[in-house]
Amino acid sequence: MNESKLHDLVRNMTLEEKAAQMSQVVSSFIDDKSGEGKITGPFAGMEVAKEDMSGSGSVLGASGADDLRALQKEYLGKSRLGIPLLFMADVIHGYKTVFPVPLALGCTWDPDAVEESAAIAAKESAAAGLHVTFSPMVDLVRDPRWGRVMETTGEDPYLNGVFARAFVRGYQGDNLENDESKLAACVKHFAAYGAPEGGRDYNTVDMSERQLREYYLPAYEAALDEGAEMVMTAFNTVEGIPATSNKWLMRDLLRKEMGFNGVLISDWGAVQEAIPHGVAADNREAALKAVTAGVDIEMMTPCYVQHLKTLVEEDVVAEELLDEAVLRILQLKNRLGLFENPYRGADSSLEEKLTLSEEHRKAARETAAKSCVLLKNEGALPLKKEQNVALIGPFAESTDLMGPWSIFGSEDDVVTIAAGIGEKLGTRPTVEKGSDIEVVSSQELEVAVEAAKQADVVVMALGEHSEMSGEAGSRTNIKLPEAQLKLAAELKKLGKPLVTVLFNGRPLDLHGVIEESDAVLEAWYPGTEGGHAVADLLFGDTNPSGKLTMSFPDNVGQVPVYYNSFNTGRPKDQIAPEDRFASKYLDAPNEPLFPFGFGLSYTTFTYSGLALSSEIMEENGTIWVSVDVTNTGTAAGEETVQLYVRDLVGEVVRPVKELKGFRKIHLEPGETKQVVFEVDEESLKYHHSDLTCTCDPGDFTLSVGPDSRNTDELRFSYQPRGRQ
Ligand code: NOJ
Repeated sequence: MNESKLHDLVRNMTLEEKAAQMSQVVSSFIDDKSGEGKITGPFAGMEVAKEDMSGSGSVLGASGADDLRALQKEYLGKSRLGIPLLFMADVIHGYKTVFPVPLALGCTWDPDAVEESAAIAAKESAAAGLHVTFSPMVDLVRDPRWGRVMETTGEDPYLNGVFARAFVRGYQGDNLENDESKLAACVKHFAAYGAPEGGRDYNTVDMSERQLREYYLPAYEAALDEGAEMVMTAFNTVEGIPATSNKWLMRDLLRKEMGFNGVLISDWGAVQEAIPHGVAADNREAALKAVTAGVDIEMMTPCYVQHLKTLVEEDVVAEELLDEAVLRILQLKNRLGLFENPYRGADSSLEEKLTLSEEHRKAARETAAKSCVLLKNEGALPLKKEQNVALIGPFAESTDLMGPWSIFGSEDDVVTIAAGIGEKLGTRPTVEKGSDIEVVSSQELEVAVEAAKQADVVVMALGEHSEMSGEAGSRTNIKLPEAQLKLAAELKKLGKPLVTVLFNGRPLDLHGVIEESDAVLEAWYPGTEGGHAVADLLFGDTNPSGKLTMSFPDNVGQVPVYYNSFNTGRPKDQIAPEDRFASKYLDAPNEPLFPFGFGLSYTTFTYSGLALSSEIMEENGTIWVSVDVTNTGTAAGEETVQLYVRDLVGEVVRPVKELKGFRKIHLEPGETKQVVFEVDEESLKYHHSDLTCTCDPGDFTLSVGPDSRNTDELRFSYQPRGRQ
């Protein structure tokens, strides 16, 4: 449909029809037959007759080619203007073929793999009739108490931006209009949802605008620059105003300054949440605030449907505000080709053929293996096939490997760890649960200890069940549950090689298991192919290569602890240990247990020959930093070489290190490769006190290494002409 027809359509719509386009509900509001779909939030605010919402312009949470075709047909049959429904859902890390959770995907440091995972998710879900995914979530995070860290790619603004782009490319491709195997991406949650106080979900966010721009906005900017079609608002406050009611945030920053012209949707119920937040007295005022802020679609509360019409009729809201929102929604429907083909992509035979295909499972297996991080290995790994393995722990045979956010994946399709190991060995290993996730009985414990006694090596599969992280999954205790620590302590007593594989959605305090184990593999929630991927790694058929994208605290009292922190005025390492007055804890180290960027391999890499092309960078200039990396072990492996920058004297305080580049390389045993990074002014820029983003003349360090802690550094000076 051409643009002028879309405008005609908007002109022909009644105020009720406009408000309906601007509302989103689950499918049961549209059509009783189709069921509710997946419910991903509370129903509290929906004291409204179903009929009042049945004209809503979009639906969330439903899927399946046949169901969505039927729903669309039924809806269009009743629609005066024939405007098709948009189908949206949370396809976060795979549809039926579930990939590792996003925090794990980040640990691949492999944007191509992440792009491929998003492309596969798009293919499967587009065939199942979906048009939009509520992904990627690009919120920067520093607090593992917050359960939603599992849905992010971690604590670094640069890396989050790289992955934001990869997700958007994978979902949307470069031809969304004509390619029915693609989905529109909705980047979320604008803005700063990843920084709730105390790590408690939905809690207050309060930070300086400079911090917001410096650390939190870059990943949203990257996603929009890559062409993300939609943005979702955040639940939290920004500058004291809930994001969903925040005109400055949405109109001035997102739309005017960042140039976003697509559809802005509220998060579930967030329009109405202006009331409990305390910035609106009732639904009418909540609707007024959200529409004034420029929120195009209200998700799952009825404020727009109940009040937009009268707000316009009473001249409180200009009808143009509704028109511009509706036009954006129709433009998206049009870009997806829905006016020509409202059943876009929905094809049950394709759905059947594509979902969980061999090719998709293979990609999920490979990506899962790349996403696991080897945290410790004192020689217990890799396992040998001749060894008698006892697999013990609540995750040994668990199908809870997809994490809390895979609403369309089925546990029936999950490969368990026991099955993965069994396939490697050609026979089922000894398997005992030993303990539940949070409760252990002495009888179960005894049986497990007896089984372990017969083994050459004990593999413990431990972790948090998936509901312990994810949305509304905040915790103040981030250790493994006591029951499992007890199991670990009992097995440790046997003196056998002890390997721990962890399944969890957040960085944990690993005391109680890290010292006890000879090797620890962080497997996160690895998805449908988890059992195969973990077995590939345990037996060395694949060499671990994942690196953390979020620090593992030494204990929860350090939180937030992250690598790109400030030096402070009293840095611990520059003050004599006997001097009390340093920035430090009396009872814990300052450093995390495992830093950002950390991850081991079955081989070893050495770094040498760090060199700069010049010690001076001129205005608009470039310098190159090079390093030789050698595989000094006996296995082929992948290493992620990381580049960090520090501005030694800034106008405002600069972090001790900031990631500015990385390269993932494959090295055969004995092989050396030179890695060269280009550094230009972009890498030196930061937000000054007046919020401009520029770089200053002066001295910088460039550090290169295998993680954010172990780096070698060189200095250079940035000397723009006439600005010394
Ligand atoms: C609430 C979550 O915060 C958001 O990420 C999700 O997309 C919506 N619910 C819809 O399920």
